[in-house]
Amino acid sequence: MVVVGVVGASGYTGGELLRFLARHPEVEEVRYATSRRLEGEPVWKAHPNLRRDYPDLEFSDPDPVEIGEDCDVVFTAVPHTAAMEIVPDLLEGGAVVIDLSADFRFDDVEVYEEWYGVEHAAPELNAKAVYGLPELHRDEIRSTDLIANPGCYPTGAILAAAPLVEKGLVDVVIFDSKSGTSGAGAKPSEITHHPECAEDLTPYNPTDHRHLPEIRQELGKLGDVEVHFTPHLAPLVRGIETTAHGLGDVEIESEELRELYVEYYDGEPFVRICEVGETPRLWAVRGTNYCDVGIFAVGDGRIVVASAIDNLAKGASGQAVQNMNVRFGFEETSGLEEPGYHP
Ligand SMILES: NC(=O)c1ccc[n+]([C@@H]2O[C@H](COP(=O)([O-])OP(=O)(O)OC[C@H]3O[C@@H](n4cnc5c(N)ncnc54)[C@H](OP(=O)(O)O)[C@@H]3O)[C@@H](O)[C@H]2O)c1
Repeated sequence: MVVVGVVGASGYTGGELLRFLARHPEVEEVRYATSRRLEGEPVWKAHPNLRRDYPDLEFSDPDPVEIGEDCDVVFTAVPHTAAMEIVPDLLEGGAVVIDLSADFRFDDVEVYEEWYGVEHAAPELNAKAVYGLPELHRDEIRSTDLIANPGCYPTGAILAAAPLVEKGLVDVVIFDSKSGTSGAGAKPSEITHHPECAEDLTPYNPTDHRHLPEIRQELGKLGDVEVHFTPHLAPLVRGIETTAHGLGDVEIESEELRELYVEYYDGEPFVRICEVGETPRLWAVRGTNYCDVGIFAVGDGRIVVASAIDNLAKGASGQAVQNMNVRFGFEETSGLEEPGYHP
């Protein structure tokens, strides 16, 4: 059993962490849910869906060293640059830290500094962090005290294309992704304002989104591949659909390719492989930690694979809980067993 802290608990991923942790059989207590803005308020003030789940838990804003001393594991669900200021104190206190921001995701700290335009505040810790995609790094996650939870787009993209790259089937992968607006967090902005986005589909940062170097880093470990990525804001609240276009001199049948995916993800509790031609559906993964993968069309020098995740679940908080399960030796599916919805 573990005592848990959530730093940045008033936001969307913080709320989703509280939702998964509320029924987690190995969680003794969520002792801290931090918010500067809502200090002293009950957590349901920000998350009314949890009104009965945490009757006594109030938002607080204590010293991070104290949180680290009192907790076995702390999730940091704060913006990038804020996390790298807090994480060293949490580790000093003695907790395992699972960071949902981008601050510790890059093997090369210079890549982070170049893409995020800031100097890293804790490069020595960055060197110890493990990229928290269990499907690729399960063994390393088991033995680290700092887990860098992947970005939402990279999770869907990497899982869609990893078998293609590792088996050397393609030379180039172009990712075309569509995300719901909750990906931008709880703070309102002009771009996510309902009248601006509810009937629109907008590409943004088409060649230089910050998740591109993360996808390149992880797929580059699996094989020699050129990677491109264009995200879109879709009129959805939750969910990321990613279509991966693999280009190369492909000689494989669709069914054979699907079999290859089934074997590659054999035993993975959260990757579900669809039938050939079947579209992974966003509603089927909504609120769950699943990544559904499907389509598997092959032709004209191109392989098309699509994935669907919930950006707040497998793309953030569900995956963070999965990482906690791996790190502490719990059943990997603990607290994450709910199926999705239909319709
Ligand atoms: N949304 C997604 O789909 C998604 C997916 C993957 C990863 N992520 C990453 O997860 C992190 C959280 O994202 P989110 O969408 O949950 O953001 P959010 O809804 O904007 O919530 C941010 C939280 O961080 C707190 N916070 C902000 N600045 C802080 C600071 N300087 N010190 C301490 N606390 C601070 C806020 O608390 P108060 O203002 O109340 O103090 C709030 O609880 C980000 O790094 C994001 O990139 C998000």
